[in-house]
Amino acid sequence: MSLSGRVVLVTGASSGIGAAAAILYTKEARAAIVGRNKTKLSNVARQCAEKGETPLAIKADTRISNEQETSTILQETVDKFGKLDVLINNAGFSKLGTLLDGNILEAYDVVMKTNVRAAIRLTTLATPHLIKTKGNVINTSSTGSLHVPQVPTHAAYCISKAALDHFTRCAALELAPAGVRVNSVNPGPVRTDILENSGVQNPDAVWETFKSGTALKSISIELANYVNKPPY
Ligand SMILES: NC(=O)c1ccc[n+]([C@@H]2O[C@H](COP(=O)([O-])OP(=O)(O)OC[C@H]3O[C@@H](n4cnc5c(N)ncnc54)[C@H](OP(=O)(O)O)[C@@H]3O)[C@@H](O)[C@H]2O)c1
Repeated sequence: MSLSGRVVLVTGASSGIGAAAAILYTKEARAAIVGRNKTKLSNVARQCAEKGETPLAIKADTRISNEQETSTILQETVDKFGKLDVLINNAGFSKLGTLLDGNILEAYDVVMKTNVRAAIRLTTLATPHLIKTKGNVINTSSTGSLHVPQVPTHAAYCISKAALDHFTRCAALELAPAGVRVNSVNPGPVRTDILENSGVQNPDAVWETFKSGTALKSISIELANYVNKPPY
């Protein structure tokens, strides 16, 4: 399927999976890329421009505490390109917290805002535009939505991804009659900056643990090899 002429909006595009997706999309499509870290976002925009059209880079926080910024993301994208074909709700992170350390609810509150509520809000704002283009939504979920990784400190993250999957199903049912498809992708471990960004103190050890939990005893490192290598 050709993506030529399509407009794609990718959140969490300043790093990791979102950055790699944005770079691939800009080979054919026109893209708006969203992130909070301006330096990393500019670096990804430069890498996109090397593959295709320079993307619209939007520095914004997608959390619900920043509702105005969420509205701005959609408005700037449609103002620039005149339409939206694909929304990729990819921004996400994990915050450590467990029942035993008493921090699970603190983690739950912030993780749900970014990983779930922001996706619901952006999808709501995008829906009128996606109905016009018969477009689609892709939510970046995780295998953590289906089973809990060996590390028990990521409960809030796993809960958020299970919720995101079910939001995906509900939205797919609601928007199908309007010709809008809603799907999620559920990656296994991919070595990105996510553990560092989530405050994990010993990321190397955690990646090793994740690796031992995969059938092939390996994790994808390709992204780390070509996206956002220092200097940012
Ligand atoms: N890596 C994995 O093993 C794995 C596996 C399954 C699913 N996933 C999912 O894949 C998605 C991308 O993760 P990643 O591994 O690529 O992690 P990453 O390298 O840490 O990238 C996360 C991205 O999300 C953005 N982000 C986080 N919170 C945000 C907020 N409140 N507002 C705006 N942007 C925000 C970050 O922006 P800034 O850096 O600019 O703040 C960054 O661009 C996440 O949803 C994650 O849960 C990852």
